[in-house]
Amino acid sequence: MKILVTGGTGYIGSHTCVELIAEGHEVIILDNLYNSRIDVLDKIEQISGVRPKFYEADILDKEGLEKVFAENDFDAVIHFAGYKAVGESVSIPLTYYENNISGSINLYQMMKKYKVRNLVFSSSATVYGDDFEVPFKEEYGLGTTTNPYGTTKKMNEMIITDMDIAEPENSSVLLRYFNPIGAHESGLIGEIPNGIPNNLVPYIAQVVSGQRDYLRVWGNDYDTVDGTGVRDYIHVVDLARAHVKAIEYAASHKGTEVINIGTGKGYSVLEVLHAYEKACGHEIPYQIMERRPGDIAVCYADTKKAEGLLGFKAEYDIDRMCEDSYRFTCNLSKE
Ligand code: NAD
Ligand code: UFG
Repeated sequence: MKILVTGGTGYIGSHTCVELIAEGHEVIILDNLYNSRIDVLDKIEQISGVRPKFYEADILDKEGLEKVFAENDFDAVIHFAGYKAVGESVSIPLTYYENNISGSINLYQMMKKYKVRNLVFSSSATVYGDDFEVPFKEEYGLGTTTNPYGTTKKMNEMIITDMDIAEPENSSVLLRYFNPIGAHESGLIGEIPNGIPNNLVPYIAQVVSGQRDYLRVWGNDYDTVDGTGVRDYIHVVDLARAHVKAIEYAASHKGTEVINIGTGKGYSVLEVLHAYEKACGHEIPYQIMERRPGDIAVCYADTKKAEGLLGFKAEYDIDRMCEDSYRFTCNLSKE
């Protein structure tokens, strides 16, 4: 298939491009490089042997977007482009709604105009909110989101669902990611955080590379194995492979499907820290702090739907996730 990947030079997008190319798909990337670097294209080429066609374009720019659609006959779109920092979304909600909602609507309008029927959208486990019991199941539906970022994911899910009701030829897969971490085994692509990382593994990586003194562990009084928060971490390459299966599923079905993408297993903050210590070969300093506002104790996926519908099962364990993250971190600090 000929697939437009919005946000394709970003963290999850770049890994997905590599996996799509490996499966014989043609990839065209659209990204405004707000949170990614142009040299990611070189890295994708190094890994896969193919340099994807690239448009430096913004989904908020309707004319630029139209040019991309007019010049290509896409079979499908995988839509990653968006802002993703939870805390920032609380401070500048309109910017988040504009980029993640208005930008997405521009894209969906273009898909409608050019009759591109197949879509995979990057949603998040955050749409479950704190309303349900773990493991989170797709049938629970949408919970109460606690920040504008999460609300943009929920709104996109609602918009796409309505769009598909109005256009029965459409086919969309809404992937609810749990916690993607790790990097490609080549060490060439991975997550490059912008400023002080908010997420656990990027923060640990910066402690290991000497940019931060210690990890702040947000609370050790949760009802979990060691009191620290539990999450369903998934290797970004597994997540990327789930996109290949999802877009192939979309192309051979109609309607809207919501699918969790996780491993179904939860790890505590300290368990992740210890796995990272194993990967880098030394202790990593940390301090226990107060709970972070808005955090839930435990979050992990029910993965049955992904297995049944997509035939997807995550392969890599937490040790591998940390090893690959560490390799990328070492390469990054050599730059
Ligand atoms: P990322 O920031 O690395 O990638 C997003 C890409 O979109 C970046 O390259 C950025 O430059 C681009 N972009 C942003 N706004 C754009 C615009 N207006 N026009 C064109 N390009 C634009 O993020 P990521 O971690 O790869 O996440 C990809 C998607 O997955 C996002 O939608 C994110 O919300 C979602 N998601 C991520 C996580 C996570 O933990 N990383 C979890 C759940 C969902
Ligand atoms: N944590 C720390 N110290 C840190 C960072 C995180 O102790 O410096 C803890 C958190 O308290 C939590 C766990 O590590 O218990 C994971 O935190 P992350 O910030 O890495 O991930 P979250 O689960 O809070 O959030 C992530 C994404 C959101 C997404 C959500 C649900 O960042 O975008 O998963 O999918 F909405």
